Amino acid sequence: MTEKPASHQQQPITALIMGANGFIGHRLIEHLLRHDDTQVIAIDLFDDRLTSFMNHPRFDFHRLDIAENFARLSKIAATVDVLLPLAAIACPSQYVADPLKVFELNFEQNLAYIRLCANTGTRLIFPSTSEVYGMSTTVPLDPDTTPLTMGPTHKSRWIYATSKALLERVIFGYGEKDKLDFTIFRPFNFIGGGQDQLQPGSKPRVVPQFLLNLALNQPLRLVNGGAQKRCLTAIEDGVEAIAAIIMDRTGRSRGLVLNIGNPANECSIRELAERLLARAAQHPVYQEAALAAHIVETDGATHFGTGYQDVERRVPDISHIRKALGWQPQQNIDQLLDAALEGYTDEFLALRNQATHQRDA
Ligand SMILES: NC(=O)c1ccc[n+]([C@@H]2O[C@H](COP(=O)([O-])OP(=O)(O)OC[C@H]3O[C@@H](n4cnc5c(N)ncnc54)[C@H](O)[C@@H]3O)[C@@H](O)[C@H]2O)c1
Repeated sequence: MTEKPASHQQQPITALIMGANGFIGHRLIEHLLRHDDTQVIAIDLFDDRLTSFMNHPRFDFHRLDIAENFARLSKIAATVDVLLPLAAIACPSQYVADPLKVFELNFEQNLAYIRLCANTGTRLIFPSTSEVYGMSTTVPLDPDTTPLTMGPTHKSRWIYATSKALLERVIFGYGEKDKLDFTIFRPFNFIGGGQDQLQPGSKPRVVPQFLLNLALNQPLRLVNGGAQKRCLTAIEDGVEAIAAIIMDRTGRSRGLVLNIGNPANECSIRELAERLLARAAQHPVYQEAALAAHIVETDGATHFGTGYQDVERRVPDISHIRKALGWQPQQNIDQLLDAALEGYTDEFLALRNQATHQRDA
């Protein structure tokens, strides 16, 4: 490991964020530029959600593929305080549709940047996932004690979780061998504006999926009846937690695995669909579509493919991040659904208008 000068307490923290145009990336950058003393270097293949930051004096964007620009990104990484490798495939429909792509990007490409941090001494803040708990029935899920229970290898859904889980173990290995300074965080179902785009024919994550169905006058489809429960976490709460990890100059989060989720917001996917429709029915942009909408049931194999397998329940133990950084989620389910609806109004209207024109043509 090469020696780096210790960063001065008063200096802004320089963060290299890969996958910056993604859901967490662009919402995190919005938060950092507004609230924190940071300099952000952002990397992505796309920049459509970053345009409002382009002239910000503390923001610097490079359109680069992390798979093809390792040498160039290594030079940048060696100059920053913190690396957040957020570039990944993070949508369950794609774990089943293209498991090898998940392995190549989420595992192989990210491994290269983990090794880089071990070599340069750059602090690593690594996005793992609540999926690593797999089908564990422990309530709540504790990163220190809960066993990780993955499904069978022919169920390709688990390639995402096993890739992340193995990378966590590699990070711990470099922590011991090379004194890698790291924090791992596991997000639990972040929800909000700026998640996946509403593209006809795509299979985005659950809230944008329901909004896509609404925009196109399609039924909301509950996979396996929607009985599976999740703890919904407002993206605003989620990025505040990640920002607190970035800004942690005390080392209190060093070497920890931190769940980021809202245990008070547990609800079934059926309840999520019903509450989303109820909130949408009170919003002028969504009202007409929501009042006409209906809910149907489907099975996982039909919706995602045979490589899919479901997780019944997933409640985070958040005592570790509360103790280390004092973070506590704030938004309840209705608040986060209202914020998500607000965040999607422009896209929803554009898609609905487009669908209406096509019907009328
Ligand atoms: N959103 C959640 O609730 C959640 C939950 C658990 C874990 N995570 C993890 O957090 C991280 C970020 O998730 P997200 O929801 O923002 O994902 P996302 O899919 O919204 O964003 C990923 C970004 O990476 C970019 N990217 C992909 N390949 C790239 C490449 N080769 N070079 C450069 N950029 C590339 C994409 O363009 C995209 O902007 C991921 O590691 C994901 O596994 C997210």
